[in-house]
Amino acid sequence: MRRLAAADPDAIAAAAAVLRSGGLVAFPTETVYGLGACADDPAAIARIYAAKGRPARNPLIVHTNTLNGALALAVMDHCARILADACWPGPLTLVLPRRAEAELAPAVTAGLGSVGVRIPDHPVALALLAAVGRPVAAPSANPSGRLSPTTAQHVVDGLGAVVDLVLDGGPCAVGVESTVVELTGPGPALLRRAGGLAVARLEALIGPLATLPGDDARPTSPGQTAHHYAPLLPLRLDATDVRPDEALLAFGPVVPADSRVVLNLSPSADLAEAARNLFAMLHALDASGASAIAAMPIPGAGLALAIRDRLARAALPKRGPG
Ligand code: TXA
Ligand code: MG
Repeated sequence: MRRLAAADPDAIAAAAAVLRSGGLVAFPTETVYGLGACADDPAAIARIYAAKGRPARNPLIVHTNTLNGALALAVMDHCARILADACWPGPLTLVLPRRAEAELAPAVTAGLGSVGVRIPDHPVALALLAAVGRPVAAPSANPSGRLSPTTAQHVVDGLGAVVDLVLDGGPCAVGVESTVVELTGPGPALLRRAGGLAVARLEALIGPLATLPGDDARPTSPGQTAHHYAPLLPLRLDATDVRPDEALLAFGPVVPADSRVVLNLSPSADLAEAARNLFAMLHALDASGASAIAAMPIPGAGLALAIRDRLARAALPKRGPG
């Protein structure tokens, strides 16, 4: 595995060359780091699934840097265009009817008639996509079932040698994954709840969004299955005290006394700061030597919903990789 600072003058060209020759490149986006491969290269896409231990039924998001790039892959109706015009580049993934002629390895869409598309809002991601000149499929760059990476070091720790090149662009500014909206059914529906983009903003643009029931037996989007964002340690929600063997994930200015290991998502209770810190602090507490994590309540709407959603998933009993 090679690791290059994204600011290195040769980094983007080197990463583009790795992608074009069928390799895997981890790169920063504004949400989390992605594990990228050319979306039209079946062998490279197979390597993504193998590297993550990802079930074949879980489709990948395809990243492009232009609206025309998205239009080449998917049919975008009026509603899709409104969302794309207002929110791209940005932390929004649209699940759209796939064009039959789109050059996509079948495994990218897990054989579905739809495709998830996103234009990320990150200068390194956009430069890489422009240099490759092909759509890049990229799930979050973590082993399946584990926390998403928000730094290059998380990628190195989680996936290591199976990645050919890691582009280090520093910590991700948003810190939680994109909101996923499906536009293939009778009306727009939210597939991944309260991601990096506030649902209220989307509803102001296109009206009410249906929320499909999170049904583990028949997930419409695997991001809805409950156990997607797990730290290794058990996690206790809405903690207002801390037990002797616990590490504390704090929020706000008032932290329970006698906490031994404490990381504060935002001492000033700033939700954007808390979202940015969430996965990095869960990673760090996992490695702290404590036997469990206690997470303080995160009150409020908007990004607080996204944070509570990720914490609630993290608190569910562990199971094997999925
Ligand atoms: O912020 C993000 O979305 C990051 C960055 C790298 O772009 N990517 C990411 O990818 O989180 P991943 O694979 O971890 O999550 C993608 C979600 C999954 O829940 C997947 O099931 C859903 O999007 N998805 C992708 N294509 C889909 C499709 N055709 N139909 C339904 N769901 C789809
Ligand atoms: Mg993921």
